[in-house]
Amino acid sequence: MILVTGGAGFIGANFVLDWLAGSQEPVINLDKLTYAGNAENLSSLAGDARHIFVHGDIGDASLVARLLAEHQPRAVVNFAAESHVDRSIHGPEDFIQTNVVGTLRLLEAVRHHWLTLDDLEREAFRFLHVSTDEVYGSLAPDAPAFTEEHVYEPNSPYSASKAASDHLVRAWHHTYGLPVLTTNCSNNYGPHHFPEKLIPLMIVNALAGKPLPIYGDGMQVRDWLYVKDHCSAIRRVLAAGEVGETYNVGGWNEKPNLDIVHTVCGLLDELRPRADGQSYSTQITYVKDRPGHDRRYAIDARKIERELGWKPAETFETGIRKTVQWYLDHAEWVAHVQTGAYRDWVQTQYVDAAK
Ligand code: NAD
Ligand code: DAU
Repeated sequence: MILVTGGAGFIGANFVLDWLAGSQEPVINLDKLTYAGNAENLSSLAGDARHIFVHGDIGDASLVARLLAEHQPRAVVNFAAESHVDRSIHGPEDFIQTNVVGTLRLLEAVRHHWLTLDDLEREAFRFLHVSTDEVYGSLAPDAPAFTEEHVYEPNSPYSASKAASDHLVRAWHHTYGLPVLTTNCSNNYGPHHFPEKLIPLMIVNALAGKPLPIYGDGMQVRDWLYVKDHCSAIRRVLAAGEVGETYNVGGWNEKPNLDIVHTVCGLLDELRPRADGQSYSTQITYVKDRPGHDRRYAIDARKIERELGWKPAETFETGIRKTVQWYLDHAEWVAHVQTGAYRDWVQTQYVDAAK
């Protein structure tokens, strides 16, 4: 079996669902269920003995040690993190606690467990750390995309905390020999994406008749990958990645934010036209920019393509259509995640900030 952390969040839940759709190998899923963790993402696994959910913190060393000793997973896949840049600007502390201290405690618990294994098990064991392209900082418009050799230049409290965690993982390999793998992926989108992030926020605000808030001039560029393609890349790296290596994951889909929002509006105009016949794009509103906003990210994914034969299955056009349709089909999921805590965040970020 494998141990997945943060498997009730956006990417982690997609990973667990896809894993169990394609394999009989059980998953222990350790998740703290922060505001971003949602047990409902995994409701289709109710009663499935292959999924063992544990409510807990990656920073709880004794809990992690107990889970490792009891279940003897052959690998750990670490998704658990605070993940939203805007929240890291309002309150960096939680990001340091989970992304840095939590990763440290997890690494130590895993290392102590790994040392108890016999030679064959120790050789086969893997710790896969899921990270982000944001650790590389911001690219000039004409600069080549991030390769694995790019310097680390994190600019937000979130990316700095992820960069720190990547360095810890690297050091645990070089110093202690822990068999680690790291993936640095670009922006994901798809089902179960929490509506604090650009694409799901635009979909739910559009449908609710609310403004679509574009930070600054909306010409910041992100490189978008359908979440299930990220999951297939992680499975591939886990199966065949070279220990100690990092792999950049991306879909060669660089787009300015404004284009993304117009695409989402166009799909909604087609699939759920507004009663007044106007386009959802009339709801676009320009708001104050994110402090320290990175202008451009782009991933050079040639290493994972060349060495591991991985390729994304979706184009942006197919992936975004599936995503918009998923949100239209899951109004109940959207209503459930828009709880009091979600409303408090929207008030802080979009209402109070505009005063
Ligand atoms: P998310 O915020 O949707 O989910 C994070 C999950 O981790 C939640 O279920 C939360 O409850 C859990 N968690 C948080 N703190 C925890 C702790 N201390 N112990 C146990 N569980 C904890 O995030 P996501 O978008 O699914 O991202 C998952 C990982 O992928 C993160 O490490 C993130 O940095 C990385 N990543 C995300 C993207 C993206 O576009 N979303 C891109 C590249 C990399
Ligand atoms: O690049 C990978 C990263 O992508 C991950 O590591 C992060 O966990 C993930 O949250 C994401 O970070 P971004 O900051 O790029 O994603 P977000 O959806 O918050 O914003 C995408 C772009 O849209 C960014 O340029 C900011 C802009 N934006 C965002 C929001 C929420 C807006 O213009 N308006 C908004 O309301």
